[in-house]
Amino acid sequence: MKLLFIGDIMGSPGRDIVKTYLPLLKRKYQPAFVVVNGENSAHGRGITEKIAKELFGLGVHAITMGNHTWDNKEIFDYIDGEPRLIRPANFPQGAPGNGITYIKQSEGELAVINLQGRTFLPPLDCPFQTADQLVEQARKRTKYIFVDFHAEATSEKQALAWYLDGRVTAVVGTHTHVQTADERVLPQGTGFLCDVGMCGPMNGILGMDRETVIRKFMTQLPARFEVAGEPAQLNAVLITIDKATGNAKKLERIRIDADHPFME
Ligand SMILES: [Fe+2]
Repeated sequence: MKLLFIGDIMGSPGRDIVKTYLPLLKRKYQPAFVVVNGENSAHGRGITEKIAKELFGLGVHAITMGNHTWDNKEIFDYIDGEPRLIRPANFPQGAPGNGITYIKQSEGELAVINLQGRTFLPPLDCPFQTADQLVEQARKRTKYIFVDFHAEATSEKQALAWYLDGRVTAVVGTHTHVQTADERVLPQGTGFLCDVGMCGPMNGILGMDRETVIRKFMTQLPARFEVAGEPAQLNAVLITIDKATGNAKKLERIRIDADHPFME
């Protein structure tokens, strides 16, 4: 049983490349579950109802978010009525929306949990303790549990993966926009990839227009970043789940760009 997770979708170049390749990826890999991180899908800043609906229309079963969750005002109303769109679970109590959702398919039910790191990011509640609570809740329902850990620090992502080893199917990282090459299955059966990478401009800096980013580094003056243009890349991970145990059998990184063309 397979789960396809697509990394941070960045603005219209990211949405376009997902629109192009998701049908091909689905045909090739036949994933039971498709999850995407959509926290940069609206011009790099958050998501809108229209974009979320577009993604669901492409066959996405759940959307995770991150530190840009609240960048669009309309999300505050929309997220409470759309259980398939989740935000980091460790936002302090009172935040709209949920940090966990369940995808029910004929093959089984997948719990999707979204958490955010606290290193070089705002001080949310403890992601480890929040994970304990949600994993316990999810395990009463299903042994297939996927965690998108939206975090900056490699160490924090490794720490959460080891902390949850044997309790969840996989922990994968998002947020840095750069795919890491450390995919593995930990000893107790949890799959891990430190960062899935993003879907968005190939020639920007983390997807943003590079001139502005370079200028900001050189001048230290405030700057408003805009999403760079085409061409785009797509980064994702395909997780093969052991149906009997709920463990990850293997993780395969997916990278599609001009240098890594999609093969049928
Ligand atoms: Fe982020």
